[in-house]
Amino acid sequence: MATYPTKRLRRLRFNPIVRDLVRETILTKDDLIYPMFVIHGENIKNEIKSMPGVFQFSIENLVAECKELVQLGIKAIILFGIPEHKDEQGSDAYSEHGIIQRAIRAIKSEVKDLLVITDVCLCEYTSHGHCGLLKGDEVLNDETVSLLAKEAVSHAEAGADMIAPSDMMDGRIAAIRKALDYKGFQNIPIMSYAVKYASGYYGPFRDAADSTPAFGDRRSHQMDIANGMEAIREAESDIEEGADIIMVKPAGAYLDVIKDVKDTFQMPTAAYQVSGEYSMIKAAGKLDWIDEERVIIESLIAIKRAGADIILTYFAKDVAKYLDKQK
Ligand code: PBG
Ligand code: ZN
Repeated sequence: MATYPTKRLRRLRFNPIVRDLVRETILTKDDLIYPMFVIHGENIKNEIKSMPGVFQFSIENLVAECKELVQLGIKAIILFGIPEHKDEQGSDAYSEHGIIQRAIRAIKSEVKDLLVITDVCLCEYTSHGHCGLLKGDEVLNDETVSLLAKEAVSHAEAGADMIAPSDMMDGRIAAIRKALDYKGFQNIPIMSYAVKYASGYYGPFRDAADSTPAFGDRRSHQMDIANGMEAIREAESDIEEGADIIMVKPAGAYLDVIKDVKDTFQMPTAAYQVSGEYSMIKAAGKLDWIDEERVIIESLIAIKRAGADIILTYFAKDVAKYLDKQK
């Protein structure tokens, strides 16, 4: 092996064309999924205070925004719903006339070439803001799983292209797969939030989705932030149960976990750059404390470099515009 002065690592850094030739990680629009919030009502476009540039849209405005995304070259969205009525069972989540079901039908009838993924959980729909049915203050597992399977089927029936369960109940991937197959949706993929931590970075999302738990937290189902090996066990069980894509969430503070999961299973792997990651970059950018565009790209390249094939990010529109500018 050559050493200095024969070896000079700077040789490949002087010429920008050479730098382009040897670059290891490339970010493209094909990698991105844009999260969106749909709310009941008409003519609504509410900016989320803690997430500048992110909005709750009523259905017709959501459809208009989706058309703009397609123009920008963004190919996939993940939908979150804020229903008119919440109850203890989260009924709107699996109602044929639920907010998500209506939104999917509207998008599918008016927008071409956009992949519609739906988040499957109950916390946006329950009056108590928990991810499942409660008994006292315990989130019940198996009873919740049946409702999640019902929710997934109703999303598929409305026209969803992919199902993304984010609840972290045990056994939900198997139950959802079985329910989808039984109804003839064998070809609808499941992107499992397989490795989801009980994270402080979800704060702004809970404003956006109006899903803050009325009491307690999500530590009885989401993972302990301190655990890395447990991530492998979580991913493994979801893969065994039939997940097609596995997700790690959040992304930026869990790059080691993304890499471990990717290296261990070599499955299509997604990472969710969550609301708090977005808000922090936005806030520092607004204060001119960092170069916002540079840091956005750096944060996403790091997630890809760690092993993510797919990134869910609220920066998808900014990235698309940036990539167009590069050309
Ligand atoms: C619902 C769900 C959450 C997120 C995605 N799906 C919130 C939570 O678990 O509390 C967070 C996304 C984000 O912060 O951007 N279970
Ligand atoms: Zn939830």
